[in-house]
Amino acid sequence: MIATASMQTKVAPPPLRDVDAEIKLDARHVDFFYGDFQALHDASLAVQARKITALIGPSGCGKTTFLRVFNRMHDLVPGTRASGEVLLDGHNVLSPDTDVINLRRQVGMLFQRANPFPKSIYDNVAYGPHILGWSKIQIDQVVEESLKDTGLWDEVKDRLRRSARRWIRSPRCASRNSCKNSRSGIRS
Ligand SMILES: Nc1ncnc2c1ncn2[C@@H]1O[C@H](COP(=O)(O)OP(=O)(O)OP(=O)(O)O)[C@@H](O)[C@H]1O
Ligand SMILES: [Mg+2]
Repeated sequence: MIATASMQTKVAPPPLRDVDAEIKLDARHVDFFYGDFQALHDASLAVQARKITALIGPSGCGKTTFLRVFNRMHDLVPGTRASGEVLLDGHNVLSPDTDVINLRRQVGMLFQRANPFPKSIYDNVAYGPHILGWSKIQIDQVVEESLKDTGLWDEVKDRLRRSARRWIRSPRCASRNSCKNSRSGIRS
């Protein structure tokens, strides 16, 4: 499907709210600009706590842009601007007094394409806990648990100290024959 200009910014109206639902994040009337180009027009979405919410739409319609507003990732892209409100537990994350470091601890993001740091598999998984000052025992434990939870432990447990970048580019791809259309090799 080809995304046209008219499709680009339409966001479906939010569904009727369940009065008992706990709303964790409430985006209201969000506009977003990359320089002069407006990528989001009056986008609103209420995200319930402890539920999975999916954003579905044609390529280029603004899904990633919308998600990046939720943890102010766009602050890192020069010339961008967001307006409207994104209430996280009632606090507008777009307000200037938001502590963005703390915000990004609360609102994580997994990217479409894997982009590990140029470090070992172990160090990539341990990076966050290490910055938070966790002990070696705690970090060892969370590395193992995380890799087990994601189904990767058996595949990587004997090469935790090897480069994560090399691992996603070669042996895994070769074994699964799944990387023909993927630059990173992680999508299949
Ligand atoms: N850094 C940028 N600078 C300028 N325009 C951008 C930038 N990033 C995205 N855009 C534009 O904003 C619009 C929305 O892009 P976005 O990446 O949010 O769409 P998407 O729905 O996530 O697409 P896909 O399904 O392909 O991931 C597109 O027209 C895109 O070209
Ligand atoms: Mg996207």
